[in-house]
Amino acid sequence: MTTPQHADDFLHDLRLRSAAEGGVFWMDDEHLAVFEPTAARQVSSANWHGLVMHDRLIDTLRRRHSPQMPWTRIRTAWLTQLHALATAEHTSDLITRMRLIIDARLGDDVDLVLLAQDVAVRSMLPLALTGLTDRESDRITQDLDQKLLRLIDRDPGGSLRHRAHFAAVQIRAGLVVRRVLRERAAGRRARQQDLTDPIVDLLPELGMDRALDVVTSVLTAIGGPPGSAAASVLYELVRNPQWAERLTGELRAVETAAFCAAPTKAAPLTHRFVKEVLRMWSPPLLLMRRARTSFDLGSTRLEKGCSYLVSPHMIHRDPRFWQQPDTFDPDRFLPGAPHGPADRAHYVPFGWAPKKCIGADIGTTQLIALCHLICTRYRLTVPNADALTMACRFAPVPQHFRGHLSLAPPDDAEKQ
Ligand code: HEM
Repeated sequence: MTTPQHADDFLHDLRLRSAAEGGVFWMDDEHLAVFEPTAARQVSSANWHGLVMHDRLIDTLRRRHSPQMPWTRIRTAWLTQLHALATAEHTSDLITRMRLIIDARLGDDVDLVLLAQDVAVRSMLPLALTGLTDRESDRITQDLDQKLLRLIDRDPGGSLRHRAHFAAVQIRAGLVVRRVLRERAAGRRARQQDLTDPIVDLLPELGMDRALDVVTSVLTAIGGPPGSAAASVLYELVRNPQWAERLTGELRAVETAAFCAAPTKAAPLTHRFVKEVLRMWSPPLLLMRRARTSFDLGSTRLEKGCSYLVSPHMIHRDPRFWQQPDTFDPDRFLPGAPHGPADRAHYVPFGWAPKKCIGADIGTTQLIALCHLICTRYRLTVPNADALTMACRFAPVPQHFRGHLSLAPPDDAEKQ
């Protein structure tokens, strides 16, 4: 599949084709677009049914076998851990980490895309992997940062030297994860309440290489969409001052304890705002998958080994399912709103079962918490806010999005 220079034009063309061809069409000889909501759900369900982790290439080369590991066991282990982490205390800790990162940049002229990424990833990292030394933590975040820069196209280049550096950073981060897994398993490092810990228990069955893959998949997952969504939240707050004001009213009035216990209940208007941001600007924009099996989608047959693309973004912007899909309006998520989602399949910012995002709840909490901080504790100033635009790369990226944060005057912040 060739991607035109201008990703925005490419997506625009895809939208037109999708509307004309009913959401399921061949983009070229090998790539099937599956942008119709029911078909996307079916294809995901069929493709990942009974997914098992097999031997890795290295096992095959060494003629050794690892026991098969159903993917559902990994997901269950993660979801159990996330359930234990869904407490008011953990939410409060998450907000404190976010606040400290922003406080350190007060008054600076900052690139708000990178700041949003920093806040989202560094505050979320302890949920995935904690108990690290500063040096270890730097190695992991350096790897996540460079992967993100590559995705949002701020990468200075693809020279050999640059690629070698990229690989070296990635290998060093992998060595940290291996060391943590090994030392926790051997009792030389304390066990922690994070998403890596259940993998320590599965280590004898998984083996080190597959365990590294599993932990890396969580790290990669927190390194991409949360930061992109956080940047989109800032973008919409700046572009919609009347909504920022409404959110401020709600968030100033809410008690901290109630907010930390259940942010979506304590701040329903802010929750609607975040849902609308995720509808308009769902990251990643396109998800490419390889068919693990052949299957039929109406009159179209997808053969095993071919690739298909699914996209929450394309579904969320399809005028067949959403009225005025390009208009930002959080009130479409009010119960019974005529311009809201007519079906659950029309709103899928976290993907589809059985591979649906495990971090949907904590990710939403983090975005609501970001709104809380920005609307009550800080003042966000962005020159030329009216001229801001969003570019579509791997994910939506606000362009030339610079500004500065200062503390809100004491009167504004007193309910903090
Ligand atoms: C607003 C924030 C987030 C968004 C928009 C988001 C979105 C997504 C999407 C679209 C997928 C692909 C689902 C599919 O293939 O059908 C995914 C997968 C995943 N996400 Fe998230 N995510 C977010 C936050 C998080 C967080 C905070 C975590 C970890 C705590 C996380 C962990 C994962 C994992 C592990 C997967 C892969 C699941 C699997 O392969 O079974 N995500 N996410």
